[in-house]
This record gives sequence, structure tokens and C-alpha cells, in this order.
Amino acid sequence: MSKVKGLWSPGYQFVVLFLVLLSYADTAVSGITSSFVRSEWPAIDIPIDSEEFAVPKDHDAPQQVHITQGDYDGRAVIVSWVTNTPEPSEMLYGKSEHNYDHNARGKTTNYTYYDYKSGYIHHALIDSLEYDTKYYYKIGTGNSAREFFFQTPPKIDVDAPYAFGIIGDLGQTYNSLSTLEHYMQSGGQTVLYVGDLSYADRYICNNGTRWDSWARFIERSVAFQPWIWSAGNHEIEYSPHLGEPYPFKAFLHRYATPHLASGSSSPLWYAIRRASAHIIVLSSYSPFVVYTPQWHWLRDELKKVDREKTPWLIVLMHSPLYNSNHAHYMEGESMRAVFESWFIHYKVDLVFAGHVHAYERSYRISNINYNITSGNRYPVPDKSAPVYITVGDGGNQEGLAERFSHPQPDYSAFREASYGHATLELKNRTHALYRWNRNDDGKQVPTDHVVFRNQYWASNTRRRRLKKNHGSQALANLVAAY
Ligand SMILES: [Fe+2]
Repeated sequence: MSKVKGLWSPGYQFVVLFLVLLSYADTAVSGITSSFVRSEWPAIDIPIDSEEFAVPKDHDAPQQVHITQGDYDGRAVIVSWVTNTPEPSEMLYGKSEHNYDHNARGKTTNYTYYDYKSGYIHHALIDSLEYDTKYYYKIGTGNSAREFFFQTPPKIDVDAPYAFGIIGDLGQTYNSLSTLEHYMQSGGQTVLYVGDLSYADRYICNNGTRWDSWARFIERSVAFQPWIWSAGNHEIEYSPHLGEPYPFKAFLHRYATPHLASGSSSPLWYAIRRASAHIIVLSSYSPFVVYTPQWHWLRDELKKVDREKTPWLIVLMHSPLYNSNHAHYMEGESMRAVFESWFIHYKVDLVFAGHVHAYERSYRISNINYNITSGNRYPVPDKSAPVYITVGDGGNQEGLAERFSHPQPDYSAFREASYGHATLELKNRTHALYRWNRNDDGKQVPTDHVVFRNQYWASNTRRRRLKKNHGSQALANLVAAY
């Protein structure tokens, strides 16, 4: 009798009501096209001699410091920096500030692009790090030494909470600065970057000094937390007329990725696991059709995903597969035709893309029944499908993509042509809190927010298993998380 009474106590009823509401959190209702009109700051790059791009005072000081994950599971970091002179690629690190008990030696590279000559670019891998630990590191010697720190992620675990930021198409304008500053206030622990970095290729002869200025611009964040890189069209820089026929030359020299750890043959597509997430990075501008290296790699990588360890399956790419903006309309269609059925089969949670300079979020839809001879021409609601999110709104010099198609397609849940960034907070194996934050003249405004249910664990079958294995403690944790 007391058990029955306990079940219908006000507290229990609240929990049940709360979970019922959550279960509808990412279910389709009619889509919204935001009427917000931005009073736009000019989409021009910040002058090259601005303090935002300031070079460290000492001539030989390391600059453009940035870090990214260096292995499959988050126990290694690649530290990269640039020097004007050919210094040794040496760095110190340890768990105490100013007290470094480890050192690492990296590799140095440089490149030329038409009449631009890069500095000396260093990449050092530090590995066998402890999870969930703050590390300090030091680059350079004497007066030119600089010190930074980062926090390693928690151990791979099905309920490991973690906060990602998502930024795309950032560039180096005042709008870019606003996006970057807002992101840095968000509490995000790692950036998932969806391509188009410096926009140096917008300059005559691809001005390489804009690659340098961009790296100094983002150092305020990326020297202290990893950014996970994917490449966009502005990284291709294919210019045979300038004597530069090799694509991605600057990007590949400057931004290392841990592609070998996931068995990839190219730094442009790879996977990492971090906390409770399995993150797959794809290259929109590398071959991906059947039998290509990227196709083979993705087929094998998806088989390795273990949702019992990393419940959140996230895919990054540059060109969106679903996009209802006039800008770049249908450019992702060829990749959709090749990979969408896999995304459905493996129940991918979220696909983030950039490229279109506006924000858009889809419902869970698919178009895998389409073929060129069938009558099934339209995307349909599909509970096994990912949500597709376009965050190409970092604020680069090309300006906003302001023309959406009308009427708004059924698959489009929310769209707005203004600048901003997104955050994804993984709370546990079943739920994640997602926000898109608009830049609104000096302040960030949470504009689109959704509670996402995990595509693997939030199904009824998985919930039963969760309840059976973890009982009331898991329920208590879930409620505590909100
Ligand atoms: Fe792009």
C-alpha cells in the first residue's frame, strides 16, 4: 500500500510529467522562419594591424598557438604553434603551473603559396594524459616563452557529461569577433568547427598573412581548449594559375588532425571519441562516392561505434545535406545520396554543417526512399533520422545568406539569417540540451533551443534496459541534471 501511495506522490507525478514533456521535446511542429532582422556591422575583415591580431612582442615568441585532440579517446593533445625563425619544436608540460615535469618534441614544417612564405609551423603530440585533469604547457624559452593550459575530457563513459560549442565559417570580421567572444562566455569545453576558417583565399593571390592573422585571432580560445577541425571550400585554395595545384595546402600544413588514430588515410576525414560522444568528421570536398577511400573509411568507422560507451553519434561536414536557403542550395545533395541511408541505419543523432551563412535546424526527416525513377520525391518524417543543423553563421566577410526559399519546407524547423554559434550540452546517455545563440550587438541571445533525446538510449527498449540496470539512481540523476 505504501508503495502505491509513493508512486502517486506529488514529487513522482512531477517527474512523470517532466519526462513526458521531454519526450515531445524534439517532435515536429510547424517550422519557424525568424523575422529577426539584424542591424548588420559591415562584413569586412578587421584591419590587419588591429590589436585583435597582435603579434607577441618578442620577435621569436611562439604565436598562433592552437590545440586539438591527438588520439581516438581524448588522452592526447596536438599542440601547434608558429615561430619566425627555425626554433626546435620543443615544449614543456605538467600538472602544476610553472612546474613542468614533462617535455615533448614535435615536428616542424613550412610552405610557400605563390609569393607568400609561411613561418615555421610546429606540431607536438603529448599523450598518455590523465582524464579530467588540468595541464599547463609552455612553449619557447627565456623572454619569448609563453604559457597556457587545458583540461582533458572525462574518461569515455556512457553518462559522461560534456559541453561542445559549434562554430562555422568564422572568418575575421567584427562579427567574427562577436561570435568568438560570445562562445567563450558559453562554458563550452571543445569546439566542433564545421569548416571555412580564415577566408584568406578571398584576397588577391590568397594572402597567406590572413591565415596568420586568423590563427592569432582565435588563439584566445583554441590555445586553451581543442577545436575539432573539418575543412570547407575556402580551405581548398586550388589555384593552378598561381602555380598552386595542390588543394588544402595551407590547411593541411597548419591544422593537424588525429586521422591515423581512426584508421583514416587523410587528415580531412577522421573520427574521435570524447566523453560520451563519437564524432565523425567528413570532407565535403574530397571524393566520397562508392569505393573511394572516404566511403570505405566511413563504412568501417560506423561499424566501430559503440553506443553503450559513446551514446551520442555526431557527424560534422561543411556542405549541409538539408538546406532551404537559396545560397548553396542542393550542393550537399550528392553526399546525401551516398551517406544518408547509413545515417538512418546507425541512428546518427546530429549532423552539423556550415557553408550557408545563416542558421537552420531540421526535424528528423529522411529521403532514403527517393530514387530517380520512383515517385517518392519528398523528405518524410523519420524517427531514425538525424537532426540536421546548419551553423555557417560565424560572421565572415562574405556576409549573410538572407534569402530563404518560400514557403518554408516541411522538414525545416527553425531558420534565421543572422550571426551566432551553437552549444550542445550532453547531460547523460539519454538527453542533451542544445542552443543556438544569436549575436545581438554586444550580447548573445539564446534564440533556438531544443532538448534532444538520444537516438539509441531514448527509445522505449533502451529506457526499459536503463531502468532495469540502473533503477532509481539513473532516474534521480536524470532529474538532477535538469
Ligand atoms: Fe563554405
